[in-house]
Amino acid sequence: MKAHFFELLQRVMARERVLTGITTTGIPHLGNYVGAIRPAIAASRHGDVESFFFLADYHALIKCQDPELVHRSTLEIAATWLALGLDPDHVVFYRQSDIPEIPELTWLLTCMTAKGLMNRSHAYKAVVQENEAAGEDPDFGITMGLFSYPILMAADILLFNAHRIPVGRDQIQHIEMARDIAQRFNHHYGEHFVLPEAAVDDNVALLQGLDGRKMSKSYGNTIPLFLPEKQLQKHINKIKTNLLEPGVPKDPGDSTVFQVWQAFATPAQTAAMRQSFADGIAWGEAKKQLFELVNAELGSARERYEGFLARPAHIEEILNAGAAKARAIATPVLTELRRAVGIRALG
Ligand code: TRP
Repeated sequence: MKAHFFELLQRVMARERVLTGITTTGIPHLGNYVGAIRPAIAASRHGDVESFFFLADYHALIKCQDPELVHRSTLEIAATWLALGLDPDHVVFYRQSDIPEIPELTWLLTCMTAKGLMNRSHAYKAVVQENEAAGEDPDFGITMGLFSYPILMAADILLFNAHRIPVGRDQIQHIEMARDIAQRFNHHYGEHFVLPEAAVDDNVALLQGLDGRKMSKSYGNTIPLFLPEKQLQKHINKIKTNLLEPGVPKDPGDSTVFQVWQAFATPAQTAAMRQSFADGIAWGEAKKQLFELVNAELGSARERYEGFLARPAHIEEILNAGAAKARAIATPVLTELRRAVGIRALG
């Protein structure tokens, strides 16, 4: 009874662990910034959570098999998060491939994962469906990496006994799979893993792209995050508008210019722009003001970004220090798990 009470107390007092993986492919755009990066960094500043952020470069290999691109993206994405204010002294910031315990745990979990569970993965099923629609073999182009991707992701999460995983909607199923796998492992080998929960933030803005659809790399309508000033201005000028003349009132409700404005503005600035729309602001003027607003928020981060890119060895140092912090947690966990499954010294 007493032991039980202390265990409960300990659990309540332990800081909540929040963990997020960032796949190292592609260049982040304004939509990623507003929808994921900015809120994640803001949340990591709360003193009451223990945050883990990592560069998921093993995950990148599933989608991207160009070594130069994988290498370059790792640098660019690390530089992006650091430039935007992720504080490596305050969070655990590391590169997945620096933690050998992750692939080791992946194997232990693979042996506890039902193939049928993986068959149900949306990401995998989508490719099978595309193949079938194209009259191809259903397995065409599908690697074991893609098929077992959710197990690697489960290892990322379970190794650190993370409680909460902030993700986009498309990732919820993967967190549920991590729970399933953890439950099966716990049931068979005893209680080792915390059951993680997905946290989907419905309040973050989904930014529209140049053509008014959701900003997404697959639509080719993005504004990359750290464009040089001139380029940023050019992209903003390309945002699609209607043909209403200056002096004619405009509807903020169907305007991408207004929507992007709102994602960067204070409530007072948003109210002022709403008034300008009612007063018939010219599109050229609205875009000029939008450029100034976005540039003001991102300008100093862009400079820091360039600074980080110029000193890759400095980023390497930061990541090595992060890996040391992460492994201080991961190594004893894996030792215990190996023991639990029967892999231990004979003597
Ligand atoms: N698969 C995730 C994505 O594409 C990235 C990721 C890898 C991740 N491992 C993770 C996210 C662990 C959260 C937890 O967005």
